[in-house]
Amino acid sequence: MKNIKVKILMLFALTFIVSSQLLSVEDIILLPRLGHRKGQIKFNHKSHTQDFGTKCIDCHHSGENKKCSTCHLQKDQGEIMKLRDAYHQQCRSCHKKTSGPVACGKCHKIYQ
Ligand code: HEC
Ligand code: HEC
Ligand code: HEC
Ligand code: HEC
Repeated sequence: MKNIKVKILMLFALTFIVSSQLLSVEDIILLPRLGHRKGQIKFNHKSHTQDFGTKCIDCHHSGENKKCSTCHLQKDQGEIMKLRDAYHQQCRSCHKKTSGPVACGKCHKIYQ
C-alpha cells in the first residue's frame, strides 16, 4: 500500500517536472547571432510546435530537449558540426521540404 502511494507521488512529481519544462520554453526564442550583422533571429517555437506540424524530435534530434549549443560548439568536433552550421542546415533543409521560407530575408531581417 505504502509502496503504491510512493509510486503515485513520484508519478505526479515526474509529470510536474516534464510539464514545467515545456511551459518554461519561451514562445519566441531569440537565437544567438553567429557571424552576421543582421538582427537576432526570433524563432517562433510555439508555432513550430503547435501550428506547423513539426515534431519535437524533428529538431531535438537527439531526443533531449536541450539547447543545440549543449552539443554543437563553436568549432566542429569530429562528426558534430559547429553550432552555426547546425542551425542553418536544420532550419533550411526542413523548409526546403515543407512550406517554410527559404529566402534569406524571411529569417534574417535587418531590424526586427
Ligand atoms: C522546428 C524545430 C523545433 C521543434 C519542432 C521543437 N523545438 Fe524546442 N527548440 C528549438 C530550438 C531551435 C530551440 C532553441 C535552442 C537553442 O537555444 O539552442 C528550442 C528550445 C527548446 C527548449 C529550451 C531548451 C533550453 O534549455 O533553453 C525546450 C525545453 C524545448 N525546445 C522543448 C521542445 C519540445 C518539448 C518540443 C515538442 C513539443 C519542441 N521543443 C519542438 C527547435 C524546435
Ligand atoms: C545531445 C547532443 C545534441 C543536441 C542537444 C543537438 N545535437 Fe545535433 N547532432 C549531435 C550529434 C552527435 C550529431 C552527429 C551525429 C548525427 O547525425 O546524429 C548531430 C548532427 C546534427 C546535424 C547534422 C545531421 C545530418 O543529417 O547530417 C544537424 C543539422 C544538427 N545536429 C542540428 C541540431 C540542432 C539545430 C539542434 C538543436 C535544436 C541540435 N542539433 C541539438 C548532437 C546533438
Ligand atoms: C522540421 C521542419 C522545420 C524546421 C527544422 C524549422 N522549420 Fe521553420 N517552418 C516550418 C514550416 C512547415 C513552416 C511553415 C509554414 C507555413 O506554412 O506557414 C515554417 C515557418 C517558418 C517561418 C515563417 C513563419 C514565422 O513563424 O514567421 C520562419 C521565420 C521560420 N520557420 C524560421 C525557422 C528557423 C529560424 C528554424 C531553425 C531554428 C526553423 N524555422 C526550423 C518547418 C520547420
Ligand atoms: C530558415 C531560416 C534561415 C534562412 C532562410 C537563412 N538563414 Fe542564415 N541563419 C539562420 C539561423 C537560425 C542562423 C544561426 C543563428 C544566427 O546566426 O542568427 C543563421 C546564420 C547565418 C549566418 C552566420 C553563420 C554562418 O553560417 O556563417 C550567415 C552569414 C547567414 N545565416 C546567411 C544567410 C544567407 C545569405 C541566407 C540566404 C541564402 C540565409 N542565411 C538564409 C537561419 C536562416
